[in-house]
Amino acid sequence: MKPELFIGMLSGTSIDAVDCVLASFDNKIPTVHDFRSFAIPQHVKNLLSQLIRNESLDLKTLGSTDILVGKLFADSALSMMKAHNLTPEDIIAIGSHGQTIWHQPVADENESRFTIQIGDPNTIAHHTGVTTVADFRRHDMAAGGQGAPLAPAFHQAVLGSTSIPRIVLNLGGIANITVLSPGSGSPFGYDTGPANTLLDQWIRLSNAKEFDDNGSWALSGTPNTELLELLLNEPYFLLLHPKSTGRELFNLSWLQTKLEKLTGVCKPEDVQATLLELSILTISKQIKAHLLQGEILVCGGGIHNQALMTGLRNQLPDFRILSTQQYGLNPDCVEAVAFAWFSKQTMQGLPIDFTPFTGASKPVIAGGIYRV
Ligand SMILES: Nc1ncnc2c1ncn2[C@@H]1O[C@H](COP(=O)(O)OP(=O)(O)OP(=O)(O)O)[C@@H](O)[C@H]1O
Ligand SMILES: [Mg+2]
Repeated sequence: MKPELFIGMLSGTSIDAVDCVLASFDNKIPTVHDFRSFAIPQHVKNLLSQLIRNESLDLKTLGSTDILVGKLFADSALSMMKAHNLTPEDIIAIGSHGQTIWHQPVADENESRFTIQIGDPNTIAHHTGVTTVADFRRHDMAAGGQGAPLAPAFHQAVLGSTSIPRIVLNLGGIANITVLSPGSGSPFGYDTGPANTLLDQWIRLSNAKEFDDNGSWALSGTPNTELLELLLNEPYFLLLHPKSTGRELFNLSWLQTKLEKLTGVCKPEDVQATLLELSILTISKQIKAHLLQGEILVCGGGIHNQALMTGLRNQLPDFRILSTQQYGLNPDCVEAVAFAWFSKQTMQGLPIDFTPFTGASKPVIAGGIYRV
């Protein structure tokens, strides 16, 4: 029998690429038939960065970038289909996360809580000819949830039943953990804070590089204790879960306010070294708060940063730190597969239980369906 095929797509906090998978879900561990990353053209990256920085925002830029990203996602899905000689009828649905441009899971009384992902699903459905499921976060938010992180529900479904205490650690722009420990209550998960995003943003500003390959620039510097303390003072790190965050908080202006408070000088490479230390310490501290030993399954682009991984191993010597690949899931596409799976659930009319991860009041049907 031919497998039921789904496409999952996402562009994460890092705006590094459109990740696209072709997957099917006939077994507990999904089958990834193909995974491709499609480059985001520089002018689209610039527009997205402008929107995300909330600078000179106008509705025309927002509206037209929504369509541009929709076309980019549609082209990515079409390339995937062409590479496998697939027609629209061969794909049950596309699950498109889109690109987050603002995520505000908490708000004071004068504002509303909201999250915005762009990449018009009508455009994707029309150009690909494939039913598209999108807007995955806002139903959860309407139900009182944070709308993020969502991937833990997928981690639980595919990596959940285990006889060993296990944490899934996603090292994207932001780091999130999913705690799946047997016998000690229900799973839960949340965003711990930055993984790569500050490292990326600082090296872009200072050296015009997209990312710090293997953390080698960070390793050329020395962490600055005073700066590290200022960074660790961020109230987000002390909040109880459920909690989620993004570049709305962890950005260069946040870093700048801390740098301004420094009494001494700090070389750019020392800032990078301190940011690396910040990611390592905040992630490992949260892990140790829940488990003393067990297995950590890592996914997300940060797994390729040797310095980050070595730092985590040093802080977490009692854990077996492995790639999700160990269980048949390529660490670079776990999130994209998650959105393919969410689209399958939605097409079947099945709610997804994000409640342990987002704090929503009940499981929800995630996303809207855009039929051709
Ligand atoms: N060789 C490498 N050395 C250092 N960092 C790397 C390397 N390869 C990838 N990365 C980091 O991984 C990041 C991309 O990771 P990923 O795609 O998981 O993040 P994302 O798209 O922001 O996802 P999320 O939505 O989960 O935050 C890059 O921006 C970079 O910082
Ligand atoms: Mg990415």
